[in-house]
Amino acid sequence: MPLYTHDQLFQQFNKALDAVYYPANPAELYEPINYALSVGGKRLRPVFMLLACQAFGGDVERTMAAAIALETFHNYTLLHDDLMDNADVRRGKPTVHKRWDANVAILSGDAMLELAYGRMYQALSQADGIAETARQSAFRLFLETTLQVSEGQQYDMNFEHRLDVTLNEYFEMIRLKTGVLIACALEMGALVGGATREQADKLYQYGLQIGRAFQLQDDYLDVFGDAKVFGKSIGGDIHEGKKTYLLISALSRSSAEQRLEIADRLTDHDADPQAKIDWFTQLYKSLGVPEACAQEMLSCYYEADKLLASVKMDDTGRQLIKDFADSLVHRVL
Ligand code: IPE
Ligand code: IPE
Ligand code: MG
Ligand code: MG
Ligand code: MG
Repeated sequence: MPLYTHDQLFQQFNKALDAVYYPANPAELYEPINYALSVGGKRLRPVFMLLACQAFGGDVERTMAAAIALETFHNYTLLHDDLMDNADVRRGKPTVHKRWDANVAILSGDAMLELAYGRMYQALSQADGIAETARQSAFRLFLETTLQVSEGQQYDMNFEHRLDVTLNEYFEMIRLKTGVLIACALEMGALVGGATREQADKLYQYGLQIGRAFQLQDDYLDVFGDAKVFGKSIGGDIHEGKKTYLLISALSRSSAEQRLEIADRLTDHDADPQAKIDWFTQLYKSLGVPEACAQEMLSCYYEADKLLASVKMDDTGRQLIKDFADSLVHRVL
């Protein structure tokens, strides 16, 4: 079986995703789905799934339908997330609730979730050469994971109204909203590829660590990224009062007086949005917060690397996973 690089899998995946058919009507339901799934996504989760599958000797072609289901689920979360976060731009384009409206984002998002479950069920029941136990474990994992993502999203929203969120609470929140889906992608790929339970579990742990690094980077880029490349509006997290790693670190590095000012500014909804973003950006810089965030992110990638080295899998397959993770370290989008 040939082994593919992450770039090759990205291309193959996009081609397969492009070929998925959607009904024309009602257009308000299906057009946003096509729009959301079209271009610009990094396809992180499906590529990890396919890389994991091939590293255990599995056939990526046979896993493609499950990868499409997973990406459909991810994009459903983005439609609702953008509505919840009042985000106007994603992947350099207007978000669905901006281009259409909130009701469209809700219902098209719901339809994507429904399609994701149906597609995953079908993909797993139709793929040949998978042991029944692996099929069942993979589907159960997918179901558990999708609920956990909602739990994470709710914590993320709850934290907007709190100033005393601890780093531990933050890490648990990002494990749920981001980590478990990346871990699920890797574990499902491993199970479908023929990995033992033990090795699949190890790869799951690796995925959690990658997810942690990935979300830290997302928080970082939300303030220090280049909007044109990142594809989202800079400062959205500050505007929404998100308890990101940056904000929690800033609070822990501040004096009592500074903390009062942070609290005041965060809850000042009449402030000029750009002035607010600029103030927090300066605060972060003055406290060494960007460096701390970058350091934490690097140490997560380093921990992930150690976990990957302990998984019993094809060495070339492992290297290809590592290459993909390495390509994320310096990501700008
Ligand atoms: C966005 O995910 C949500 C987060 C977990 C930060 P991605 O950064 O993977 O988004 P796309 O799919 O590449 O646009
Ligand atoms: C990502 O959180 C989590 C999910 C979408 C489930 P964010 O709210 O940080 O993601 P972006 O920055 O909007 O992509
Ligand atoms: Mg968001
Ligand atoms: Mg969010
Ligand atoms: Mg974000």
